[in-house]
Amino acid sequence: MTSNFALRVGPVVAAVALAGTVLVGCQNEAKPAAPAETPYHLRATVAEIMDSMVMPAADVIWNSTAVTESLEGTKDSTPKNDEDWKVVERAAVMLSEALNSLMIPGRHVDKPGAVPDDPESELAPDKIEEMIRKDPQVWIGFAQSIDGTVEKIQGAIKARDLQAISDLGGELDEICENCHLHFWYPKQEKK
Ligand code: HEC
Repeated sequence: MTSNFALRVGPVVAAVALAGTVLVGCQNEAKPAAPAETPYHLRATVAEIMDSMVMPAADVIWNSTAVTESLEGTKDSTPKNDEDWKVVERAAVMLSEALNSLMIPGRHVDKPGAVPDDPESELAPDKIEEMIRKDPQVWIGFAQSIDGTVEKIQGAIKARDLQAISDLGGELDEICENCHLHFWYPKQEKK
């Protein structure tokens, strides 16, 4: 397997290196790096990743420790068997990788022309992008912090420790909120 992989990858690397040389050769040095140099297709926006991956995955984790009382009785959403736990495990992987993908530079925050739902309190996507460009380490710090908490949650899932998952779920929520306060609705901080 490994040697086969090395054999296959060798010529590709050589071809890419060659292509790079050709590109550099016919381009003005002052131009920024050509986008073709990155293998990533950053088609999904930050808003889409939040909506499609981050929120659904976090919800599974939060709901996994939820026991709610209502007039109809007690609703216990905690995992009961390995299959239920597998669902929570998958959510943790999804959350971790969603945040990793948010660390790739150059992703748009929202579709062109998108306006905030509440312009009074929310920054416009281009303003958020400007903040991320200026302060990438702050953005990356929040993303890494989520991933660190998810790693601890994965340990707690392995240990089937609902109390720890619940506590770490609170920690997770706080990081979401802090990143949103910093980049999305910073005006609320001053309230
Ligand atoms: C690294 C910073 C960061 C972290 C961490 C983060 N978010 Fe976000 N999130 C954003 C930004 C920026 C937006 C605003 C995007 C926009 O302009 O619509 C957003 C928007 C959202 C939205 C709205 C998406 C939509 O449809 O417009 C949801 C839901 C959301 N986040 C959930 C979460 C949850 C849940 C977590 C934690 C598990 C989280 N976010 C962690 C930066 C972050």
